[in-house]
Amino acid sequence: MVTSARLLISQNKIQERVRELAREVKKDYLNKKPVLVGVLNGAFIFMADLIRFLDMPAEFDFIAVASYGAKKNSSGKVNLLKDISLDIKNRNVIIVEDIIDTGISTDFIINYLKQKSPKSIRFCVLLNKRERRKVPVQIDYCGFEVPNKFIIGYGLDYNGQYRNLPYVGYIETKKLK
Ligand code: IMP
Ligand code: MG
Repeated sequence: MVTSARLLISQNKIQERVRELAREVKKDYLNKKPVLVGVLNGAFIFMADLIRFLDMPAEFDFIAVASYGAKKNSSGKVNLLKDISLDIKNRNVIIVEDIIDTGISTDFIINYLKQKSPKSIRFCVLLNKRERRKVPVQIDYCGFEVPNKFIIGYGLDYNGQYRNLPYVGYIETKKLK
């Protein structure tokens, strides 16, 4: 098998869109000092870029769940690997994700954080792989729609690789003849 990365969304397009998303978030959360919760590991680059365009008071935290492993398909089971550290009671929370696929992990994270009694929860995702949804999830801020391919780069990995690509691409696997 040979794998190669194909370009889907350029570095420039990503930066432009992330800047727009930050503008939307700022408009909605002015004077609300939101807590942005990034979902590790995939969202770390998106989160870092988004918050540098967000020139307003806010706090930042991270959560990690396991739902994908090294496989290409979600198992449907989600485990909490790392909890947030901030107290989000009565706070306005924005979950920041790299990609939503089946929706299973986002649904888990929203329900998990709701138990901590935040004032509000919204969901901000860079990439939406709509075709694969199994659980309905409300998306409040969405960067791009992506096709049903295995996406890599800008934080997203394939077997731990490609996270540091500055653009979003997809993987094509071909059998060697
Ligand atoms: P979901 O629970 O199926 O929505 O999957 C959510 C998580 O699986 C995402 O946060 C990603 O970390 C990972 N994931 C889903 N699709 C892809 C993909 O195409 N490439 C890399 N990671 C993915
Ligand atoms: Mg993720």
